[in-house]
Amino acid sequence: MTKYIRAKQQRKKSKVKENKTEYAVMIGPYKVNDFYHGDALELLTFIPNNSIDLIITDPPFGIDFKHNMGFYNRKQSNVMYGYKEVRKENYYEFSLKWIKESWRVLKANGSIYIVSGWTNLKDILNAIDNTGFNLINHIIWKYQFGVYTKKKFVTSHYHILYCVKNPKNYTFNKIENYPEDVWIINRDYQPNKVKTPTRLPEKLVEKIILYSSKEGDIILDPFAGSGTVGVCAKKLNRNFICFEIVKEYVELAKYRLTHGDFPKEEKTKKIEEELPLFTK
Ligand SMILES: C[S@@+](CC[C@H](N)C(=O)[O-])C[C@H]1O[C@@H](n2cnc3c(N)ncnc32)[C@H](O)[C@@H]1O
Repeated sequence: MTKYIRAKQQRKKSKVKENKTEYAVMIGPYKVNDFYHGDALELLTFIPNNSIDLIITDPPFGIDFKHNMGFYNRKQSNVMYGYKEVRKENYYEFSLKWIKESWRVLKANGSIYIVSGWTNLKDILNAIDNTGFNLINHIIWKYQFGVYTKKKFVTSHYHILYCVKNPKNYTFNKIENYPEDVWIINRDYQPNKVKTPTRLPEKLVEKIILYSSKEGDIILDPFAGSGTVGVCAKKLNRNFICFEIVKEYVELAKYRLTHGDFPKEEKTKKIEEELPLFTK
């Protein structure tokens, strides 16, 4: 190869590099692919109209949730404090507020998946109706274990309400031939890892993303907890914006995003020194 050709190739290469300058995608004041600390009811108001492709969220359920209980034989010391709940008497008003905002920020062909327990399901369903969303599926997510009961059946399912703005135009990638509305997906076990009290399995979130979005789409989770939606969005080449009111959970989600995993128990102590992970 002559010197001339080599130099020409070199110039070509550096041109490609130069043109590769990446600009951060902004949605209102938010740079995509990050977790933001604050109250979703307030942070949502800064997102412009019609800017989000898909919302996947698992809001607080409005129950007296003992956030630090050692449910499911979990070691209590690994479960992070601070989970923020909403009072039952305010639940409808709270749900209506954030679901209305979700309608405003979703694109005309956008979709929303809302995870709900059964206790305050009616409030979520009423808020969906009163906002104008079209319910496409009422999915049942069956998981492998529930909290032991003495005189009633053990709850081992959640509801997932799949809604769209426009039933004539929305993304649905039919990746299975016969996609049923009962999903049997186990909760992830993370022994000896720091965790938040509730967390969606990655498999479940990935399924939603694959069915209802395309690569490069923007996914929003206003109630991010440990950041499962953001982590799965990144894995599947989608963009995301996530909000969470507990600062320590935001730090955990950021850790999980960059390290691909939760911190181990031993590491927790170290992180605790750097970031105030536990608020007691
Ligand atoms: C059910 S958890 C979400 C769990 C999450 N899907 C995961 O996989 O880790 C609900 C989260 O909403 C947060 N939250 C409650 N009220 C909030 C608010 N007004 N704004 C933002 N986050 C809130 C809670 O602190 C909690 O972490």
